[in-house]
Amino acid sequence: MWLRAFLFALYVHVVACISLFPGTTFFDTDLTQAQWIWAPESNLTSTAPPGTIGFFRTFTSPAGKTASAASIAITADNNFTLWVNGHVVGATFPGIPAVDDAWKDGQALIASLNATTNTLTAIAVNFADNSTVGGVTPAGFLAFVRVFYTDGSTTTFTTDTSWKTTTTLPSDWPLPADTSAFSTAEVSFPYGEGPWGTSVTITQADFSALDLINSQWIWSTSSAATSAPAGSVGFRKTVPSPSDKSPAYAIIVAAADNFFAFYLNGRFVSSPPDDPNSADETVYGWEYASRVTVYDLAPSSNTFDFFATNFLSQTSNTESPAGFIAAIQIAYTDGTTDVIYTNDTWLQATSPSSGSALVAMPDTSLDTVDVLGEYGMSPWGFVSVADTLDASRVFLSGNDVEDGIVDPGSSAVPALSATASDTPSFSFAQTFTGPAGSAPSSSSSGPSQTSGASGARLVCPEVLLLFVGLAQIAAASQTLL
Ligand SMILES: *[C@@H]1O[C@H](CO)[C@@H](O)[C@H](O)[C@H]1NC(C)=O
Ligand SMILES: *[C@@H]1O[C@H](CO)[C@@H](O)[C@H](O)[C@H]1NC(C)=O
Ligand SMILES: *[C@@H]1O[C@H](CO)[C@@H](O)[C@H](O)[C@H]1NC(C)=O
Ligand SMILES: *[C@@H]1O[C@H](CO)[C@@H](O)[C@H](O)[C@H]1NC(C)=O
Ligand SMILES: *[C@@H]1O[C@H](CO)[C@@H](O)[C@H](O)[C@H]1NC(C)=O
Repeated sequence: MWLRAFLFALYVHVVACISLFPGTTFFDTDLTQAQWIWAPESNLTSTAPPGTIGFFRTFTSPAGKTASAASIAITADNNFTLWVNGHVVGATFPGIPAVDDAWKDGQALIASLNATTNTLTAIAVNFADNSTVGGVTPAGFLAFVRVFYTDGSTTTFTTDTSWKTTTTLPSDWPLPADTSAFSTAEVSFPYGEGPWGTSVTITQADFSALDLINSQWIWSTSSAATSAPAGSVGFRKTVPSPSDKSPAYAIIVAAADNFFAFYLNGRFVSSPPDDPNSADETVYGWEYASRVTVYDLAPSSNTFDFFATNFLSQTSNTESPAGFIAAIQIAYTDGTTDVIYTNDTWLQATSPSSGSALVAMPDTSLDTVDVLGEYGMSPWGFVSVADTLDASRVFLSGNDVEDGIVDPGSSAVPALSATASDTPSFSFAQTFTGPAGSAPSSSSSGPSQTSGASGARLVCPEVLLLFVGLAQIAAASQTLL
């Protein structure tokens, strides 16, 4: 059995690696299949008026398949914000300073999906060009989407006439209920043609660069991996900058059983897009670590607060495992980086009433954390890093920066009596053991569903050859399956 599971893992990882490893030209290559679209215009191949366009597309899993995640290569002239099922997942990086040709800087985003029906919505803005009469300029929106299913298969689609557009954003944006007045998108050019040529590159950070392999699960009680009461615990790490360095940005990868809200220097940044309280969830919050990039770091010291919440067991409505794990990579302006992992140097606040209450607490009223164990431990195993949820990059005029995201600090804390999420039936892929030789648990025990923990790390070519070799061995031992 383990061999069958391993072959399945192999297949998924080959697919995932080919698809997601950013050292390849995957995204660039596949953007070549996409077409630039916009709202219908009389002369779209030359010009479009300045303005804001809403884009809309739903997609449904083929019969018998369960969607788990999507990778989305995307850009727009001049900028975009993208939502998946109403949760913001990314936006044009505004640049420092913001530049008109930010469309050249394509983004590679990942989002977890509903099992069957999913909705992508985007807003794209065309800027006026003061140098041309009437201020009209080319406008376009370009995306390539790969949908991953739980059986390891994928399908793709791109921007084309299957998208709908609107020049008037309905009040229930980003998940409009009625799209009957929307227009079919107009295609101006296939990628490579038109004013943009082949100038889109995807420069986003390496998906595999930061993971949780050196991090430890932490909570406020030492037995939390087995059982902990429903409730919230705050976690804090303050990172002083080295005296000769200035931080440019930080990438945060974090997962909590069951849910968390992330604050930078007291400001709410984001929560995972999955609502762990939703009864029909197929992907639980902790199975996908959320990755967030923040650019507004303070020069001399930065405080990272996480307001984590444990819910009762979905099956028994009793106490359930609780844990939090994170890695924070700080990039300095001189090109060097530091990585901070959750361990016993973090501080915790037991039962803060809200995220806002947590960030207001001085360090002196916090305690040290309890370390539950290494990344890979039961019941969580290895989690996928997905869900780029980057509220810090979303700048919608007239909209709250937290649009589409629940801030437990400013609104109701998720109801603790609700049931959720400790015995998932979902599996994106079988557990991968991490870098060869370093994994705390083996591939034979990892895929077991009895622990309730599963999920693949999207790890790539450094293990691909190993997999290929093992596949050959496995192919030669079919009878063992
Ligand atoms: C379309 O725009 C281009 C460039 O502005 C212009 O030269 C051309 O005449 C326009 N065509 C029409 C049909 O308006
Ligand atoms: C996705 O699933 C959530 C619940 O998990 C549901 O509320 C939402 O309507 C779904 N979205 C779509 C577009 O089906
Ligand atoms: C373009 O014109 C607008 C409106 O007059 C002005 O606010 C903006 O600064 C101008 N942009 C540039 C790049 O000159
Ligand atoms: C805790 O993590 C930090 C990096 O975040 C590291 O420098 C430190 O050595 C770790 N401490 C222990 C006890 O592992
Ligand atoms: C897009 O451009 C508009 C107009 O300048 C601006 O208000 C908005 O914040 C920008 N959105 C993003 C995601 O950069």
